[in-house]
Amino acid sequence: MRERGDLVLIEPAIRADQLVKSFGRTRVLDGLELEVPAGAIYGLLGPNGAGKTTLVRILTTLLAPDRGRAFVLGRDVMAEPQRVREVIGLTGQYAAVDDLITARENLYLIGRLLGLRPRAARSRAAELLTAFGLADAAGRKVKDYSGGMRRRLDLAASLVGRPAVLFLDEPTTGLDLASRNQLWGMIRGLAADGATVLLTTQYLEEADRLAGRIMVIDRGRTVAEGTPAELKGLAGGQVLEVRPLDPAHTSAAVAVLAGLAGAARPAAEEDLVTVTVPDEELVAAAARRLDEAGIPVRHLAVRLPSLDEAFLAITGHRAEAEPARPAMARTEGGA
Ligand SMILES: Nc1ncnc2c1ncn2[C@@H]1O[C@H](COP(=O)(O)OP(=O)(O)OP(=O)(O)O)[C@@H](O)[C@H]1O
Ligand SMILES: [Mg+2]
Repeated sequence: MRERGDLVLIEPAIRADQLVKSFGRTRVLDGLELEVPAGAIYGLLGPNGAGKTTLVRILTTLLAPDRGRAFVLGRDVMAEPQRVREVIGLTGQYAAVDDLITARENLYLIGRLLGLRPRAARSRAAELLTAFGLADAAGRKVKDYSGGMRRRLDLAASLVGRPAVLFLDEPTTGLDLASRNQLWGMIRGLAADGATVLLTTQYLEEADRLAGRIMVIDRGRTVAEGTPAELKGLAGGQVLEVRPLDPAHTSAAVAVLAGLAGAARPAAEEDLVTVTVPDEELVAAAARRLDEAGIPVRHLAVRLPSLDEAFLAITGHRAEAEPARPAMARTEGGA
């Protein structure tokens, strides 16, 4: 925070300015801009290969950009990497803990590496093991941990140094719903305690549930930024769902809904037909037309679009799809 007369300027906790990064001929970040306010949980959403990990690696001083600048708590990631490392924690996409030693030993070692004295490192480890529900398993080798326990330990490992800014790269990928819920609760707790969290995810639900603001990136560029509600709004209205009583009527229902003026093209998944409608009057019209066409329905509902549908509407392709890249443009170690 800088003060100039009456004016108080609040620095964003994380700021990226026109970041460009290429690997060989592939431009992975293409002038990316980012501003994360202090104390926020900020979601970075994008499909495989969008550039999320590359951005996180630059912001955490592990990788230098080709162009552009970035700051964490006002510290320049390029010019003062050591000062940046003092205030950040990182939970990478792939587990960083050592498999062959116990959870307690992992956290103790990290504490020692961060300069804690033995007693302080031991007590910080014990505190985190308890907070993350790992106290009972603390003496077991990490290789015998479940995926959920391992992710919790990863998160705990990034918190040993009490970072003010936390980077979580796909923290819940591969976890079952119960483990995800548990981790989400922990991430919310960290933000409630004042940490700033930048979270990357491919789970639209995760960004929706956790983040106050979301940036959607695709092929190294921002395609949308806003609150979860704003992003849903970009998808162009509400989604009407229709399930005919008789599944044999599904294609007839699609045809009826396709005839609604102003509606998007309907899609059917098994017997569930969905169509985006710009205003609610079309819902009544849809119900009337289905009735006139002799199609009784079992389920008719209107809801906000999911972030998945929002992504499709914004980018023109599904979030699951890996962007098509020419094989020769993918280079590991020079073009
Ligand atoms: N060291 C590297 N050398 C060459 N290409 C790389 C390197 N690191 C990343 N890439 C390429 O850059 C692109 C973006 O990768 P990145 O890991 O940032 O994507 P991501 O959004 O994290 O994807 P995912 O969701 O799969 O983790 C990909 O096409 C990837 O193959
Ligand atoms: Mg990644």
